[in-house]
Amino acid sequence: MQLVESIPALREAVQKWRTAGESIAFVPTMGNLHSGHLRLVEEAKRLADRTVVSVFVNPSQFCAGEDFDAYPRTPEADAAKLSDMGTDLLFLPKAMEIYPKGTIAVTFVEVPGLSDDLCGRFRPGHFRGVTTIVCKLFWMVQPDVAVFGEKDFQQLTLIRLMVADLNIPVHIHAVPTVREANGLAMSSRNGYLTAEEKTRAALLYRCLTAAKTGLEAGRRDYGAIEAEQVETLQQAGFRPDYFAIRRSLDLTSPTGDEREFVILVAAWLGKTRLIDNLQTSI
Ligand code: PAJ
Repeated sequence: MQLVESIPALREAVQKWRTAGESIAFVPTMGNLHSGHLRLVEEAKRLADRTVVSVFVNPSQFCAGEDFDAYPRTPEADAAKLSDMGTDLLFLPKAMEIYPKGTIAVTFVEVPGLSDDLCGRFRPGHFRGVTTIVCKLFWMVQPDVAVFGEKDFQQLTLIRLMVADLNIPVHIHAVPTVREANGLAMSSRNGYLTAEEKTRAALLYRCLTAAKTGLEAGRRDYGAIEAEQVETLQQAGFRPDYFAIRRSLDLTSPTGDEREFVILVAAWLGKTRLIDNLQTSI
C-alpha cells in the first residue's frame, strides 16, 4: 500500500493508474477505522481496479465547542488495517496540505435547504464543511466511484445532491449500516461511551425499529410516532435532538402518498452525540 501525504504525490499515483486504463474507487474517512469503514473499503475493492482511502479529520465540519480536538486519531492502526485489506493507496494529509489558507475566508460548497435541516439545525455549518471537503477530495482523487455509508444518511443525501448540482462525474455508491450485535450502529464516537452507555445505546435502534414496525402496520400519524419515541428515549436518559420520519428520496416530510421512508434519530447519551437511521418501503 502506498502511503501518501501530499496532493501532488496523490495525483501522480492516480494518474499512473489512469494511464494504464484502470478504474479508481475512493473511500473518504476521518479515520479510527472500524468494521463499518472496512465494509466500505471491501465494496470499493469490488467496484474498481484501484482503491484509494483518505483519512483526514476535517476541521471545517466541526462547529465551535465540538469534539475536533478529542476526535480519535489512530493513523498507524488505520494504515495497518487498510494495508491488510489490500488498499492501493492511503491519503493521509496534514491540515496545511488541505487548507493552506485556513478554513475561514476560503471558497466553500454548500447545498442549500437540507444542510440546515435535521442534524444541520443542531450543528450549524457542519454540512457545509462536509460538502466542501468531499468536493475538494473528489478533485484531488478524481475517482470513478466513491463509497459512503448509509449510517450518515443526511450526509449521503447531501453528497448525492452536490454531485448532481455540480455535474461531478463520480458515481456515489451507498453501503448499509454495519451494527454491533445489540443493534448499535458502529461509529468512531462510540469510543466515547462507557460500557454501561454502550449497552443502553442499543435503545436507539430499538426505537427506530418500533417506528418502522408502526409504519409497516399502516400507521401514518408521523408526529405521534415521533413523539412516542422521543418520550421513550428521554425516559431512558437520552437527550434527543430529533426523531424524524422522512421521505428517503430527499428527506422532506411525508405528505401522504409516499412509500419509501427513512426514520432518523440524533440523541445525546452523556457526553456523546449518536445518530442512526432505518429505511422502510411500504
Ligand atoms: P467518518 O465518520 O469517518 O465516516 C466515513 C464513512 O464511513 C462515511 O461514508 C460513513 O457513513 C461510513 N460509516 C461510518 N460508520 C459506518 C457504519 N457503522 N456502517 C457503514 N458505514 C459507516 O463521514 C465522515 O467520516 C466524514 O464526514 C467525511 C465524509 C469523511 C468527510 O470528512
